[in-house]
Amino acid sequence: MAGISNKIDRDSFSGKFAVIAATAGSAVGLGNIWRFPYVAGENGGGAFLFVYLIIILAIGIPVMMSEFVIGRAAQKNPYGAFKTLAPKKPWFLIGLMGVVAAFMILAFYTAVSGWTLEYIYQSASGNLIGKNHEQLTNMFDTFLTGSVRPVLWFMIFMSFTGLIVMSGIRDGIEKYTRFLMPMLFVILAVLCIRSVTLPGASKGIYFLFHPDFSKINSKVILEALGQAFFSMSIGMGTLITYGSYFPKNDNMASSAGFIALTDTLVAIIAGLAIFPAVFAFGGSPGSGEGLVFITLPGIFQQMPGGVIFSLLFFVLLAVAALTSTISVLEVIVAYFTEELGMTRKRATGTATILVSVLGVVTVLSWSSLGFLKLFNKNIFELLEFSTANVMLPIGGFFIVIFIGWFFGKKRTTAELSNEGELKVRYMPLYMFIVRFVAPVAIAMVFLYGLGFFNPSEKQAAKTDPTEVVDSVQENSLQAVLPEIQDDSLK
Ligand code: TRP
Repeated sequence: MAGISNKIDRDSFSGKFAVIAATAGSAVGLGNIWRFPYVAGENGGGAFLFVYLIIILAIGIPVMMSEFVIGRAAQKNPYGAFKTLAPKKPWFLIGLMGVVAAFMILAFYTAVSGWTLEYIYQSASGNLIGKNHEQLTNMFDTFLTGSVRPVLWFMIFMSFTGLIVMSGIRDGIEKYTRFLMPMLFVILAVLCIRSVTLPGASKGIYFLFHPDFSKINSKVILEALGQAFFSMSIGMGTLITYGSYFPKNDNMASSAGFIALTDTLVAIIAGLAIFPAVFAFGGSPGSGEGLVFITLPGIFQQMPGGVIFSLLFFVLLAVAALTSTISVLEVIVAYFTEELGMTRKRATGTATILVSVLGVVTVLSWSSLGFLKLFNKNIFELLEFSTANVMLPIGGFFIVIFIGWFFGKKRTTAELSNEGELKVRYMPLYMFIVRFVAPVAIAMVFLYGLGFFNPSEKQAAKTDPTEVVDSVQENSLQAVLPEIQDDSLK
């Protein structure tokens, strides 16, 4: 039998605000502020946003609710949850895959989080001032290909993550997300106001909100689906784990709706903070990694008070990333405590060390370990690819299949209605989605993910982040916005 240790007073979130802050904290991250703007930028701006919104409503929210149902019904980590709800059946493999995915996601995600610390430091020490695009590119490259600083920042970020998780749900995760999330909103609002009031900002606003429906094609739809998964933290059991700490009286459908809304609003506001600034200063919205670490610092220094805004922006990124990394580490820690009988302290220490080993290897894949490649991808890129494009879709697929076809309508209704306390008139629609719509749509993302290897697509070989800047610009932006090309980017 799984889970002995959690019989004694399982830790939980104290109430609705804590549930929302922690779970929205997981969802809101680098995916919103860094990935969304550039994926939207590459896929038609407003057209992408239109499709993305439909997908969040029709697929994202139902999948999120399914994870909550599994977690809160079982009161366990993803592996233990499937063991409890489906004893002696192979469903636990999905949970196990989630735990493995947690290691992999943490390794590369914390690496990028470490870059944000470097840029906080560089902003604060004034080193971003007076540099042209080439110098900023060099700076990013030199940092990334160094062996000491990226490792150091990784370790510092991983330690913060570990320290918060070690303190538990209420005294750790809840305590920090309660003030970090409001702080994130304040910073985001300040940046957004600054950006949209710049002269020339309207081009950026137009780009984000004007849907050109002729740009919608199967690629745009599938990119939007993939972005929705990553951004909402669904598909690998992070939300099963958080759901297991939800109070029994939480209205999980309304929580899912509110969290999805928050996640989407942050992505849009991040777009509103970034695109107008990019357009006002003649940058390019599809610059990938370079957009945040190269293009934006270039923009900040042309702005009055740029040092402050640059510092604020990288603090924002670090905070958003931290509330996400703790949610991923919690998956491993819950598994270690509940399945291997470790204390929380020991579980967190062990998980942090194990992740750090993989993380350091990942960080060094931009320098000394760069020769380790498969399919022309280094370790960092392999981890990003195999989690986001393979494991999340597989996990999400089986999660909805589990709810739709195995756990069934009766038990799901009982959980979502809090044993009959709440009205659940959406059930027929919800069941139809988890049985048919979501599995089919997810299967499509997955097949598209494999099409990643298709050499005719521009993503083919993404080795050097600066190459991405160039290729993205040539392939999509010239087509989308020929007049916004920036000479300094070449
Ligand atoms: N959603 C977060 C972001 O947008 C990242 C993240 C946290 C995540 N937990 C996850 C992604 C679980 C996939 C699965 O940055």
